[in-house]
Amino acid sequence: MRVNRILQEKESATQTSVDLSLIDPLIKKYKSKKGNMIPILQGTQNFYGYLPAEAFIKISELTGLKLSEMYGVATFYTQFRLNPVGKHIVKVCHGTACHVQNATTISEAIEDALGIKDGETTENGLFTLESVACLGCCSLAPVMMIGDETYAKLTGNQAVKIVKEIKIKEGN
Ligand code: FES
Repeated sequence: MRVNRILQEKESATQTSVDLSLIDPLIKKYKSKKGNMIPILQGTQNFYGYLPAEAFIKISELTGLKLSEMYGVATFYTQFRLNPVGKHIVKVCHGTACHVQNATTISEAIEDALGIKDGETTENGLFTLESVACLGCCSLAPVMMIGDETYAKLTGNQAVKIVKEIKIKEGN
């Protein structure tokens, strides 16, 4: 099956290794419940921060949920991640208000500073850079969010400064 192959290739490419026993209670809880796919995927992501390929396979084997359907749902909804993320997720808003206020400059400045592209994670696992849709505070555009903190009316330089300060605090 194509999805199976994609998942296996993805797994060998990323060389991840996760403790699959973490999701045993989750599977037990939702196994025979109707509409269990989303709660199982959400719960799995809560454990690992993303949806590891091995977890898809285990869930499918133990619940009977089809790999292709789970993969379809996981790729459709933006809440789900298929790759490991960094400790800090730098979300740069690219909604309309932020876009017209130069959100692209912010993303590019951070890309240069961290040496990664949008959607990627730094090698040290500290930062993931993500373009996101409206963060709901358009009057403060352009906006960036890291953890629970929202940074408003940013320039590229200010955004880089914020990221560098976090880096220093993390001892990098
Ligand atoms: S468009 Fe960026 S917060 Fe709304």
